[in-house]
Amino acid sequence: MKGLTNFRKMKDNGEKIVMLTAYDYPTAQFAERADVDLLLVGDSVGMVALGYESTASVTVDEMIHHAKAVRRGARDTFVVVDMPFGSYHISQEETMKTAIRMYQETNADALKVEGAGEVIDSIERLTTAGIPIVAHLGLLPQSAAVQGGYRVQGKTASQARQLIEDAQAVERAGACMLVLELIPHQLAKEVSEAVSIPVIGIGAGKDTDGQVLVIHDIVQFGLHRLPKFVKVYGDIGTQVEKAMKQYVADVRQQTFPSEAHHFTMEEDELQQLYG
Ligand code: KIV
Ligand code: NA
Repeated sequence: MKGLTNFRKMKDNGEKIVMLTAYDYPTAQFAERADVDLLLVGDSVGMVALGYESTASVTVDEMIHHAKAVRRGARDTFVVVDMPFGSYHISQEETMKTAIRMYQETNADALKVEGAGEVIDSIERLTTAGIPIVAHLGLLPQSAAVQGGYRVQGKTASQARQLIEDAQAVERAGACMLVLELIPHQLAKEVSEAVSIPVIGIGAGKDTDGQVLVIHDIVQFGLHRLPKFVKVYGDIGTQVEKAMKQYVADVRQQTFPSEAHHFTMEEDELQQLYG
């Protein structure tokens, strides 16, 4: 399994790091076969797989449930699990307890938290406790209501300066990696050069050390609208709908099940049955 040392080397050598989200067992298996470098069990699960309006509804138990499935499907891939909204802001004690529980129960390789400010202290404590922590800056989906929706962050010089400082602060606090979401590509390049930990971008242009996208988005599994930064690589949604409609029609028209899908009882057993 590629680990943090490999990801550091990849950054230093300019080899791009490929991250993708996964929320279940088969997706994790496919991702491992596709040689994805690391998987993110994102709280985006709430929106793309559970139908919530925002990631703020996702619970710790739900994250653990999905993360365990992903771990079982990708035993040989580095797995990062999001700490959900509300699970690392109440107190240091509760943050620590929740992180330890998530890390132990899911057998993840790292946990991810959003933001800087007071979160820096948590990154430091969790790292000290032995849990690798991935930071997340720029657009913070868990704080979208405060950031004014899903909009590009760090567009002004002063916001950009703050973001660079935050990135350096999370690195100093011990973060092993940094996800940058929805910021101008020039700023993402600047941040990637300003820290020595690998920087994984989403909607942050090509000059970060790696990329991450949401699996449901890239294969169009869902009826949700896609953000501009998503590139579509497949159309699972259309195929699923087509298959379902055909199944419905087959059962109604009695073309399924056919002989190919049924089981037969021997004639003498049948006779005994009927007496
Ligand atoms: O939850 C998620 O999928 C994420 C990525 C967008 C980075 O946090
Ligand atoms: Na997330």
